[in-house]
Amino acid sequence: MRFPDDVPVLTDGTVTLRAHTTADIGPAYETCQDPEMQRWTTIPVPYLQEHAVAFLTEQVPARWADESSYAWAIEYDGRYAGTVDLRDRQGGVGEIGFAVSPWARGNGVMTRAVKLAVRYAFDSAGWHRVIWRAYVGNWGSRRVAWKAGFRSLVTMPEEGLQRGVRRDEWVASITRDDELEPQGHWWTIPVVEGNGVRLRPLEAKDAERVMAACNDERTQLWLAGMPSPYGLDDAHAFIEGRLGLAADGDGVSWAIADPETDDLLGNISAFDLRNRIDPTIAEIGYWAHPDARGRGVMSAAVGLAIKHAFTPLDDGGLGRRRLVLYAAAPNTASAHVAEVNGFTRTGLARAASPRRDGTYEDLISFDLLATEHPDYRKLLENVAD
Ligand SMILES: CC(C)(COP(=O)(O)OP(=O)(O)OC[C@H]1O[C@@H](n2cnc3c(N)ncnc32)[C@H](O)[C@@H]1OP(=O)(O)O)[C@@H](O)C(=O)NCCC(=O)NCCS
Repeated sequence: MRFPDDVPVLTDGTVTLRAHTTADIGPAYETCQDPEMQRWTTIPVPYLQEHAVAFLTEQVPARWADESSYAWAIEYDGRYAGTVDLRDRQGGVGEIGFAVSPWARGNGVMTRAVKLAVRYAFDSAGWHRVIWRAYVGNWGSRRVAWKAGFRSLVTMPEEGLQRGVRRDEWVASITRDDELEPQGHWWTIPVVEGNGVRLRPLEAKDAERVMAACNDERTQLWLAGMPSPYGLDDAHAFIEGRLGLAADGDGVSWAIADPETDDLLGNISAFDLRNRIDPTIAEIGYWAHPDARGRGVMSAAVGLAIKHAFTPLDDGGLGRRRLVLYAAAPNTASAHVAEVNGFTRTGLARAASPRRDGTYEDLISFDLLATEHPDYRKLLENVAD
């Protein structure tokens, strides 16, 4: 293909993909000074003017000429706003790479540009699969890929190579007949306040208190699967992992926070949302920081979580039909939290709850149906009216 004459112009009316011009050198150089660009891509660091010149005037035209990759400038709001490229791995399979200038982020620009490029790959370049990769932790990129319909995400340890250093990568793909639409839920973690507590997303600032709570003797006793001892790295991995739970559609996990100080008092989750046998259920799980115990914090938090779980999907909730909860038989505090929130004891599984010392406790099971919840009854009454 001859550059720039044969470079196709692709547009959805808001975002346009077009051939790069020398006028893009300045803005491209500026974009590459952004720390996020340097953190998540393989661009040279420090990034010099000559890098932008070589990329736009030599590498991009040469790759169009031998069709080893197609790189477009993204135009948005009348300005250069980034680059998206398709790199051919041959045999109809290739990869997509992208970046948006900081001023244009958060407006859906990248999602639009990715969809245009993917459609080109399938409809004009004859590809049958496009692969997306990002270093683990690049949530903005992962969100773009999800919104554009990439699926079957896996984490590949040390798959990426950034300036000589191996990094773990997320990899997902989309095939020719797939819809360019999100697959499954990426749950939002709403801030909910009431009953004297605030539920909010976990944040890095919670790590110290997560560590203290999870190292506590009683937490360690009843949650035998927790790392022991529980370090600060474990706490950061837990916090990051909660984002993954929501992104995968598996669960929603909140920090229970003090509404005055915002300090973490505990953790509560509704999980198993993609249960293979019954995807209308959720399991409720929790732990409290030792200094928050004995004053109704967890009972209050469970009440808020139940309400969110039973709220219909269209109203921003989890649209659940049935909740389940389990507590080791001697863990009377946990059973109390379930019962004050209306859960019914449904049974006792014998020797089903492992302890760290190799012994097993009996496990009490509880459930709560949406039809038993006062808000659900109110909803039905409104429908009847
Ligand atoms: C990743 C990047 C391309 C996103 O561009 P963008 O134009 O902001 O993308 P969009 O607006 O189409 O979508 C971004 C989505 O990610 C979300 N997002 C951004 N940062 C996020 C984060 N840390 N956690 C969760 N979601 C995040 C945004 O809220 C938005 O979702 P929404 O539309 O549902 O609100 C841009 O931030 C960028 O260029 N980063 C540096 C380079 C890079 O990482 N390239 C990809 C390498 S694989």
